[in-house]
Amino acid sequence: MGSMSGKTAFITGAAGGIGRATAHALACEGVSLMLVDLDAAGLEITREEIARHGNGVAVSRTDIADAKAVEAAVDETVARFGRLDMAHNNAGLLGPIVDLVNYPLDKARTLFDVNVLGLLHCLQPQIRHMLQSGGGSIVNTASVSGVHAVPNISVYTAMKHAVIGLTKAAAAEYSSRGIRVNCVCPGFVLTNMTKGHFNAETESILVAQHPIGRFAQPEEIAEAVVWLLSDRASFSAGSALFVDGGQTI
Ligand SMILES: NC(=O)c1ccc[n+]([C@@H]2O[C@H](COP(=O)([O-])OP(=O)(O)OC[C@H]3O[C@@H](n4cnc5c(N)ncnc54)[C@H](O)[C@@H]3O)[C@@H](O)[C@H]2O)c1
Repeated sequence: MGSMSGKTAFITGAAGGIGRATAHALACEGVSLMLVDLDAAGLEITREEIARHGNGVAVSRTDIADAKAVEAAVDETVARFGRLDMAHNNAGLLGPIVDLVNYPLDKARTLFDVNVLGLLHCLQPQIRHMLQSGGGSIVNTASVSGVHAVPNISVYTAMKHAVIGLTKAAAAEYSSRGIRVNCVCPGFVLTNMTKGHFNAETESILVAQHPIGRFAQPEEIAEAVVWLLSDRASFSAGSALFVDGGQTI
């Protein structure tokens, strides 16, 4: 993608899965990275892998549900690398797999704190910095659950609809000031969030929902994230890009 070299990106959920894959893809483009997650051990693995690319890399063990901590991590990114050009707001929780009537309310609140408020906590300081520096590009991780519903993940579904809503709202407010905000909507991706959570019968039902005939690897989602972050997506704003093996056809 060329033009990304020398830029700085902030990635949440960088301790594994899609976030780690985005970190690798951006590092290959010459981008310096602030890697954010709750999982310190996973962050350290990503940091060691990324350091081999020779660009700047820093980690912050931060809970995105804590607004002040996220603001401090964004400030630290700018203090350390001198700028913030891009963000992949990707950290999220799946939560319980249970019917709506029995959904535990404390777990629903946690999901709201992380998947929705956590995203807002990231967007606010990121956009403030980008307004000061003249622009930037942000990609949020939504899901096919941002437009479709399947049984037993009702709260996750509601929260991913909200991620698409926040993405559109941010794009409506800030596109004219040089900040592009988009989201990706992955289908089923093989990561810690999904591996081993479903029995063989459920897995084959889930595979059958993807016309492409398999689940995604995290790197296939990262490709779309990097494109949306890059100047090559210069006319994309407020979009929800499906990378779902045809699941939403
Ligand atoms: N795996 C899939 O099938 C799939 C499909 C669609 C969307 N997604 C979304 O992709 C994103 C990444 O998930 P993944 O599949 O890579 O799974 P993952 O579990 O590997 O990654 C999620 C990361 O978020 C981190 N995290 C959770 N709560 C946090 C908090 N409060 N503060 C900071 N970090 C926190 C976790 O520690 C973890 O490293 C999530 O938003 C998820 O909802 C995943």
